[in-house]
Amino acid sequence: MSNFFKNKVVVITGGSEGIGKALIDMLVPLGAKIATCGRNQDKLYNLQVQYSNQLLHTVVADVSHYHDCEHFINSTIDTFGGIDILINNAGISMRALLKDMDIDVIRKVMDVNFYGTVYCTKLALDAVIKSKGTIAAVSSVAGYRGLPGRSGYSASKFAINGWMEAIRTELQDTGVNVMWVCPGFTASNIRSVALNKEGKLQGESPLNEDKLMSAEECARHILDAIEKRKRTIVLTLKGKETVWMNKLFPGWVDKQVKKFFFKNGELVK
Ligand SMILES: NC(=O)c1ccc[n+]([C@@H]2O[C@H](COP(=O)([O-])OP(=O)(O)OC[C@H]3O[C@@H](n4cnc5c(N)ncnc54)[C@H](OP(=O)(O)O)[C@@H]3O)[C@@H](O)[C@H]2O)c1
Repeated sequence: MSNFFKNKVVVITGGSEGIGKALIDMLVPLGAKIATCGRNQDKLYNLQVQYSNQLLHTVVADVSHYHDCEHFINSTIDTFGGIDILINNAGISMRALLKDMDIDVIRKVMDVNFYGTVYCTKLALDAVIKSKGTIAAVSSVAGYRGLPGRSGYSASKFAINGWMEAIRTELQDTGVNVMWVCPGFTASNIRSVALNKEGKLQGESPLNEDKLMSAEECARHILDAIEKRKRTIVLTLKGKETVWMNKLFPGWVDKQVKKFFFKNGELVK
């Protein structure tokens, strides 16, 4: 990778695990100034210990709370003097069928994934316009193809894609690049901490995480797309196949998706 990220101020929501952490691990050696947040103080503390000599600003913040986002973004601008790149990455998932589900599960997922993105983007907007930088969202293949058992998650990612496309058009003449990245299945903690039908943590992954794209590879694609000022990218072969086949043959994909996620009428993935 070139020295594009050197001295750039990069804000990554949810940088203590998974894809966000992998982004930080790549950006530190590239010389970026990084700000990140998460709900768990211990995980952020570990990050500070790992990168004690680097320019890393961490804040305990839940992106579903506007005032937490305000403190996070404003303190980042105070610390580094501006923002070049905002990566809206923090997200949670869910796994439950609509018929069984407490409806609050959908609200919680929307609050974190969609409203967290809206709050941080709105708060960072002037700073990113000033730097003619980038606003990115880590969306999902589920933002192009609804997935059973993840109806709230899919809704949050469809919302992100539409919202980002709309503000991309609003910001066309400002020099800001607005982009949304859609990973396919990527090895991380997200499925273990997904909400179940009661809104409690699921506690295990229904997939073999070892067989998925690594968070590091995903992060590499995201940074490459930011540097190249892309509009959007879809990751993993299965992810690309799903998005394209769904555009061309949605009825056929309905059947394939059902076959993948269900066995004998039970949601197994
Ligand atoms: N892994 C996949 O298969 C996959 C596929 C497509 C898209 N994605 C997307 O990629 C993004 C990152 O997911 P991941 O797989 O890396 O998940 P992960 O391993 O569970 O990491 C999520 C990160 O977000 C933070 N976070 C969660 N809720 C938050 C909140 N309310 N406020 C602030 N921070 C919060 C977590 O820290 P705390 O728990 O301490 O808050 C953690 O640092 C998500 O938007 C996800 O939807 C993932």
